Parts: sequence; C-alpha cells; structure tokens
Amino acid sequence: MSESAGQRGCTVGIAGFGTVGQAVARILSTDTHPGLRLTHVCNRNIARKKADWVAPDVVWTESFDDLVDSPVDVVVELIGGLSPAREWIERALMAGKSVVTANKQVIAHAGAQLMTQAGQQGRHLLFEAAVAGGIPIVRALREGVCGDRLYRIQGVLNGTCNYILTEMEHEQVSFAEALADAQRLGYAEADPTADVDGFDAQAKLAILIAVGLGRIVRVEDIPLRSISSIAAVDFLYAKRLGCVIRQVARAELMPDTGGIRASVRPALVPETSALGRVGGSQNIVVVDGTFGGETAFSGFGAGGEPTAVAVVSDLLGIARGTPVTREAALPMGGEPQPVTREFKAPHYLRFMIVDRPGVIAALGDVFARHGINVDAVLQEPGWSKAELPFVMTLEACSSTAMTAALRAIDEFDFHVRPPLWLPMLANGATARERRA
Ligand SMILES: NC(=O)c1ccc[n+]([C@@H]2O[C@H](COP(=O)([O-])OP(=O)(O)OC[C@H]3O[C@@H](n4cnc5c(N)ncnc54)[C@H](OP(=O)(O)O)[C@@H]3O)[C@@H](O)[C@H]2O)c1
Repeated sequence: MSESAGQRGCTVGIAGFGTVGQAVARILSTDTHPGLRLTHVCNRNIARKKADWVAPDVVWTESFDDLVDSPVDVVVELIGGLSPAREWIERALMAGKSVVTANKQVIAHAGAQLMTQAGQQGRHLLFEAAVAGGIPIVRALREGVCGDRLYRIQGVLNGTCNYILTEMEHEQVSFAEALADAQRLGYAEADPTADVDGFDAQAKLAILIAVGLGRIVRVEDIPLRSISSIAAVDFLYAKRLGCVIRQVARAELMPDTGGIRASVRPALVPETSALGRVGGSQNIVVVDGTFGGETAFSGFGAGGEPTAVAVVSDLLGIARGTPVTREAALPMGGEPQPVTREFKAPHYLRFMIVDRPGVIAALGDVFARHGINVDAVLQEPGWSKAELPFVMTLEACSSTAMTAALRAIDEFDFHVRPPLWLPMLANGATARERRA
C-alpha cells in the first residue's frame, strides 16, 4: 500500500457480491475497521445486487476493467470457480493491486504461479478464507506452528459432509435422508457432488499440503472416495468399536522416502479423538509436528460471516503494512510431487448379505490367501436374514492387499449390496514416540 493510501485508509474493491462478498461488505460498512474503505463492488447484472446499506459513494459496476483501472489498493476476488477468477487475479496483480481471495480452486490449481507473480509485483496475495472458512489455519501454519517440523495434517474440511454424517449418526437416518435434510437447511447445494464425493476437501487439502508441509501436489492426484455408500447401520457398528465416521482429508510425509501420502475418504476415527469430536457443519484441522505433537484448530468452516471475517483479517494484514515477503505462504516453482495412494491401516468391512452357512468361512479363506488377519466379527441381532449386515475388522494391512482381497470377495453371490470398507484411523503417535 502506498503512503498516500495509508493516509486515506486501505481502499477495497469486491469482485463477486454473493454470500461472502455481501458479508465482507457488511463488515466494511460498519465502523469496526476505520482503516479499510470499500470503494467498488463488481458483479454481473449489477442492478439487482445494489444494496441500500452500502455507503452511497461506493461505485457499482459490471466491468472488472473498472476495478483494475481504479485506484483501489486491494481487489477481493469472491466470484469463485477457476475462470475468469484466475485471469481476474492475474490482471489485478499486474495492475499493481494486492489480492485477497476465498477461492480454493484457484489457489489449489494455480496458487504457486500466482504467488510468484504477486512476489514479482511486490504485492500481497492472501487466501486465508480458501481453507476451512473462519478457522485461521493458513496463518496458524505459517506463523503459529512454523517452529515445528510438521509431518501430518488431517482434517474434517467439508461442513456439508460432516453435517450429513453426524445427522446419520444421531438420527439413524439413511444417507439420502440426511442429504435431503442438509439441502432443506441450506447446508448442501442442489448438486452435492463437490462436497459428498470429496472434490471440495481435495482442493483444500492440496492447499494445506503446500502451506503446512511445503510440497506442491496436483489437486487431481489426491485420491477420493465418496461418503454416499455409508449406511446408518455403519454408525451402530462404529460405536461398538468406540468410533465415529468422518470424511477425513489427510496428508503425511513418509518418513522413509520424504514423499507425500494423501487422500480424502470416509474413515472410522476414535470417538474421543479431535476429529471424532467435531460435529454438525463444523470443521477441524489437526496438525502433528515432530516437536510439538498434535495441535487442533476448529470452528466454522463455511458460511458468509465466518468466511468474511477471514477475508477482512487478510485485508487488515495488508492495511497494517505487513511486509509482502513474510507472506510467501506457498512453495513457489518446481514440479508437483507424486502422491502415494498406498497406505497401511486396520480396516472396517461391512457386508450386507443373504445369510447362509459358510459365509464367514469363505471370507476368512480369502483373507488368509491375501495374508490379512481377521481381528473380530460383529453382528447385531434382529436383522432379516435376507439382508443381513455384519462387520469384520481386520488387523493392519496394506490397501493393495485389501483391494486384491475385495476383488475376490466381489465374486461371491451372497452380497445384497457391495461391501463397504473403511480404514480405522488411530490417534496419532505422540511427538516423543515419533522422534524415538
Ligand atoms: N459461501 C461460503 O461459505 C464459502 C466459504 C469459504 C469459501 N468460499 C468461497 O468464496 C467464494 C465466493 O463464494 P460465495 O458462496 O459467496 O458464492 P456466491 O454466493 O455464488 O457468490 C458469487 C458471486 O459472484 C458473482 N459472479 C460469479 N461469476 C461471475 C462473473 N463471471 N462475473 C461477475 N460476477 C460473477 C455471482 O453473481 P450471480 O449472482 O449472478 O451468480 C455472485 O454474486 C468462492 O470461491 C467460494 O468457494 C465460500
């Protein structure tokens, strides 16, 4: 920000006057932050967006050129999606503006290039709101725990999935019923694919890997599994095992190779763990460091106002004159690293079968042939023999062995529904255990 800008306050232009854009404008329209002044709002079909609570001298425009050609210090990109958002951010930086964005897609796919461009221009590119909405996780990773050597980041990063899963758990309803409820309450989009199939959390995890673990990965290289095949009965069995089911986004540095293992998938986590305790539409990010052990950050991962707070906090950082160099939050340049899909964990396997003698023996035989040890067999009483759910838990085995065993198991004709398999994630090793 120039000295003259410092005297007149930091001027702000918002591109995208939707849920978050309006919440940012609301905060800037109060007297909470006198150092920030909203001067421009840009949106398509602007006439229907004009709001009487916005100061009368604010310029309303449909043309992004008007923002780029104006003297605003910071452009806040809140239109979402990859295009034209990425081009707008580039144009704003080239015009000498700093940029604040909540756009996970742009930062996950092009953050490193944009950050390089911002650095070359001596301008800020801040994106606190792009991951876990109102939880200040980017700043926490960059400043709060940067003294540690982080080796794992895991989180519940999608509030829609967490709402659906906790609803299934508490109300014992099906996935379809919980989704319909989430849609009715505005927690889920009409097309829920990005949330329930994991794409939203995938982009957020790619950003956390860059900021927290210092590695660039291609977003699409992070493997995904949907939460849609989970049934209400899985929560009963999970409870018997002292667990709950969460959509877990998880990335870790592999100690032997230094490579990255990452995934977004439903998993059983201990009820008492940090991930297990987060309910409803809340988010949590749990980081593990070699020296500091486990640290958890939780709060509202979405919603106009919590997300707007993250945007405004970024704006205040710029207004206060934070040096640009301190904010090189993403590793810049270099080829993306491959992502390892292979992992080893105990597994939960739920079958839905037509009951008949010999089923357990047949399954046990397949596991024995693949070198997998069965830990326990659980069967709740009172179910129909024509559609009987039961669970096998398996001792830690590789995902490759598990996939091969499941291919053989798929051949049996007693399935009413394909089996569901979920990894069972334990509480993390303490920092001391990790160093030993
Ligand atoms: N909502 C949340 O809880 C949340 C949380 C964290 C991060 N974010 C991120 O914040 C960003 C904004 O999300 P949002 O929920 O505020 O979205 P939204 O409600 O859909 O708002 C987007 C706004 O941008 C406008 N817009 C879209 N494309 C445009 C274009 N090409 N030209 C001009 N205007 C355009 C839209 O206009 P129309 O009204 O004509 O569509 C709308 O007013 C996204 O990157 C999102 O991922 C949102």
